[in-house]
Amino acid sequence: MKSIFVDTIHGVKRERPPVWFMRQAGRIIPEYLKLREKYSFHQLMNTPELAAEVTLQPVDLLGVDAAILFSDILVIPEAMGMKLEFTDHGPRFDTALKDVKDPIGYLDANPAKLNKVYDAIDAIMSTKKADTPLIGFCGAPLTTLFYMIQGISANHMFPDAVEMIYKDRKTVEKLLDAVTELSIEYALNQVKHGVAAFQLFDTHAGLVPYALYNEVIMPYNLRILKAVKEAGTPVIFFPKGLGNGLKALKKEAIDFVGVDWQMDLGDARAMLGVDTGVQGNLDPRVLLADKATIERELNKFLPFGAKEHKWIFNLGHGVLPNIPFENVKFVVDWIKSADWKR
Ligand code: CP3
Repeated sequence: MKSIFVDTIHGVKRERPPVWFMRQAGRIIPEYLKLREKYSFHQLMNTPELAAEVTLQPVDLLGVDAAILFSDILVIPEAMGMKLEFTDHGPRFDTALKDVKDPIGYLDANPAKLNKVYDAIDAIMSTKKADTPLIGFCGAPLTTLFYMIQGISANHMFPDAVEMIYKDRKTVEKLLDAVTELSIEYALNQVKHGVAAFQLFDTHAGLVPYALYNEVIMPYNLRILKAVKEAGTPVIFFPKGLGNGLKALKKEAIDFVGVDWQMDLGDARAMLGVDTGVQGNLDPRVLLADKATIERELNKFLPFGAKEHKWIFNLGHGVLPNIPFENVKFVVDWIKSADWKR
């Protein structure tokens, strides 16, 4: 495969950084929004041909260097027996674990519910171009469990879930363990069906102190990351908001770390050391501005990109729904045509 993304994630120096975006599938693609008038998000996810079409739209229409599987991190709680609805205000479980007497007993895992995702990967594999790499993913156990305990994402705060970590650590650890076990099986099946890389999304890592994160939470992530790496697939770990916690991060099973927009890439590099790649980290809100402003912000990446070949360009978090498609396309074209002086 002659892919700039695959080369870079394996440490091979190329003439420019590869570019893809978190949340590139859906959201800002006009062709996706047209499909959404006919189908619900669940229908798109659960119909392999449609999921494949939506997965590949950003490659065809934006020109990004990798596709990311069109699915959601919350398929894991669904496969654990929780009922989920995607409303206009975000995801909502009909019952939150915070309201259940015995959360462990309440869960009833049926891994076969994830088969639709593997069917979607097969459909992507049979329609994509040979040199388009597919990124698989799942949510990190903490972020996934936050949604399960809280039931909703209330302004991206999960007060009852964080409280439970302190008040009932035993139950939280049992729940993290259950999410981790199913996530390992899920991740390894994605590998078996052909993903070229795997990203673990810990979008809400920053909601707990980093000492607690590194001590109590990180071991669950490492179980998933190690399993995928041992299967021969490179891994990207995105602990959003971890900040200075990056310096204590256990990196033995991590190829690339996704860096959020709060952190300077050079500082992240200094904290992580030279062996670990970095991914990121343009503030997505820059893409709401005019092209001159976007270009000014992109220019700031040139010195880093000239000396760092273990770098994948991305945003510091996902593409926002109100970002104009043409601005995202502008970034892809700019990354591909800039003089990186490598
Ligand atoms: O990156 C991609 O484009 C691939 C597909 C993908 C989706 N969700 C599709 C989706 C990925 C990688 C995710 C990850 C995800 N889902 C995360 C981690 C990354 C992040 O963005 O922070 C989280 C926390 C979720 C949970 C989730 N799913 C939320 C909070 C929401 C509602 C708000 C939103 O993001 O739109 C979803 C729904 C969701 N997931 C949609 C899509 C395309 C919107 C469905 C629609 O109405 O069309």
